[in-house]
Formats: sequence, structure tokens, C-alpha cells
Amino acid sequence: MKLAKRVSRISVSQTMAVGEAAVKLRDQGIDVVDFGPGEPDFPTPENIKQAGIRAIREDFTRYTATGGIKELKKAIVEKHARDFGSKYELPECLVNIGGKHAIFNIFSAVIDDGDDVIIPTPYWVSFADIARFVGANPLFLHTKESDGFRLTAEMLSRAITPRTRLVVVNSPNNPSGAVLDDQEFIRIAEVCRERGVHVLADECYAYFLYDGRKPFSIGSQQALKSHIIIAGSLSKTYAMTGWRIGFVLAAPEIVQSVLKLQSHSTSNPVSISQKAAIEAVTGPQDSVRNMLAEYSKRRKFVLERLRAIPGIQCAEPGGAFYAYPNISSSFNLGIRDTMDFSVKLLETKYVAVVPGEAFGTTEHIRISYATSMEQLDKGLNRIREFMASLR
Ligand SMILES: Cc1ncc(COP(=O)(O)O)c(C=O)c1O
Repeated sequence: MKLAKRVSRISVSQTMAVGEAAVKLRDQGIDVVDFGPGEPDFPTPENIKQAGIRAIREDFTRYTATGGIKELKKAIVEKHARDFGSKYELPECLVNIGGKHAIFNIFSAVIDDGDDVIIPTPYWVSFADIARFVGANPLFLHTKESDGFRLTAEMLSRAITPRTRLVVVNSPNNPSGAVLDDQEFIRIAEVCRERGVHVLADECYAYFLYDGRKPFSIGSQQALKSHIIIAGSLSKTYAMTGWRIGFVLAAPEIVQSVLKLQSHSTSNPVSISQKAAIEAVTGPQDSVRNMLAEYSKRRKFVLERLRAIPGIQCAEPGGAFYAYPNISSSFNLGIRDTMDFSVKLLETKYVAVVPGEAFGTTEHIRISYATSMEQLDKGLNRIREFMASLR
């Protein structure tokens, strides 16, 4: 059967391949430790769930405005202003069905066939495939592990081509946990403005920063605002992955284009989720603080344990809930690449991780610590045994 070329340009997310193999083993009754999932292991906070239940009881179950109800957009721009010092107006905001939908629609609204999109590595898998889907050339800009996987304005300045339309910046980063220095982020956005390129700031993990560091948004920089597009998500911040609420903050023309697209595709985000989202952003924020405190403990534990394993190095993740250790020493011990490492680790020690090749690097694996201390302890012991077995 002949299928559309635009779909043949993309592939099924590699992050899922190891996950599927892990599920098969589990179905056979095997005790698999799963470090794959990129989602909080916490339930959605009670006050948010109750707001969703209330919405159903009050029959708030019909179509809403395509870009989300005014009350939610107002709550989002006000929270962004409070937390980051940004100044967005309602016509500069729209609500989507999760951050991924926001990003997909931004690419669709801004990119033309043959445009270049700069994506620093390691990158969240969907950026590259969405770029290909909309006909862009993804230009991968390799950040260095020795610099903590951080993009610099100087690197970017050398990479921008006359055809570059968009630079993707995801800080804190999935998969590396890298967090850009605020001033460097501003310099990056300044380079973009000078060269007439937009920055797409993916703020999915904006609230998960460690060591007391304050969240930052490039949206706070009024002078650069014309060249900034923010993609936000409530998924991780409020453990709401299944509710599917994300948002865009950008120039009204971009918001209007995304709105047009949504009006002919998904229509509005789920009405019930919108009411829950209002409670999430306007209600008490202690659940976010509690989750951060728990991730912080786990991060310390994972980092210490990984670094104690002979043959493994791990850069310190400043944010998100991932560690991105370098396992390349195993390449001298019979392991071909990170996919081979992940498959053998799963088949022999029953630990699922995501191979770095899925994120555009060749020497790493991603470990999600959005799982219990007990699982972390068990899985890290098994990784230590696996490394020892290679010697
Ligand atoms: C970097 C990054 N951006 C965006 C998303 C999208 O999340 P959602 O569509 O659930 O809001 C994810 C989810 O894993 C992510 O890791």
C-alpha cells in the first residue's frame, strides 16, 4: 500500500522499543526494573483531581473555544508572569493537548519545506521527527559532555545558516538533565534575534531544578520577545501526563496560525482537563515542591551510585528527572553500541533503560529516576553487576 511520504520520513519513537521488550518480559512474570518512563510516578494531586470531577458533575463536558477557555489562558499567563516575570497578553496564549501537541503545531505553523531547524544534542526524540514531518532539515548541534551538554551562544552563532528558521532549546533537558546558565540562554536568544531566527523554548521541566536554583524562562526578556516561542506543559509539573494540557506563549500571529490548525484538527483541549488545569496553576503549589524534594533525593542517590560503578561516568543533571551516564568503556568489552548495551542489560539483568542513540548521542544511556528508591536501588545494583560481568 502506498503511504504518504511525510509519514515515511519519521520513525516510531526508539524510546518505546526497549519499553516494549520490557513489557514482554514482565508478561512472562519476570521482575523487570524499568528506568525507561519519562513520566512522574506520583498520582495527580487530589485538589486537581477534584476539580476534574467537579467539571464532570457540573456538566462542563462540551466543546470549548479551540484555544482553551479564557479563564485557563488568564491563569496560565498570570502564573508565567508571577513565576518568571514575563508579560504575555491573552492573544499571545493558547492551550493545546499537551506539550507535544504544542510543539507539533508550532513547527507546523512556522516551518516551510527545506527550512533548517537547529536541534542541540542530546535531544528529546520528537523534535527531530516533528522537524522531518513538516519538511525541515534538522541540523544537530553537538554539545559536549565535558561542558555538561550545554549549548553556548558561540556554538549556535557558527551553526546558523541562511535557511535556519528555528532553534530548539530545552532546558532543563530531556535526556541529559542539563540546565542552561540564564545569561547564556539570553545570549543565545540575542544571537537568534540578530540573525532573524526564532527560539522555541520547551519549558516542560521548568520547575524541576535542583540545589535551590530558581526556575528561569527566556520569556522574561521583553526585548527578545518577538523571537521567542514558549511551549509549556502541565504534564510533569503536576503529574498530569494523562490529562493532556500544554500551552503556547508567542506573538499573536503565531498563536493565530496554531489556532487555525487546531480548529481543523483537534479542536479544543478536553474541557474537563481544562478545569483541572485551572486548579493546578492557581491552587496550592505544595505538591510541586514535594515532588521536587523527592526527585532531589533520588537524583543524589542515583548520581552517587552510578559514579561508584567502575567504567561509568555521569555528568551532573541540574534539572528534570533523568541521569545520562556515559557507558562507552563497555565498547572495549564486547558491547557494540548503546542499543546493544540496553538490549543485553535488559536480557541478562532485567533492567530497562533508553539507549542514547535515540537522543542523538553514541555513548550514553538514559535513566529515569521517576521511580521509587527501592526500584532505583535494585536496578542500580543490577547495572553494577552487569558492568562487572563484562570484565
Ligand atoms: C522535553 C519534552 N518536551 C515535551 C514533552 C511533552 O510532554 P506532554 O506532551 O505530555 O506535555 C516531553 C515529554 O516527555 C518532553 O520530555
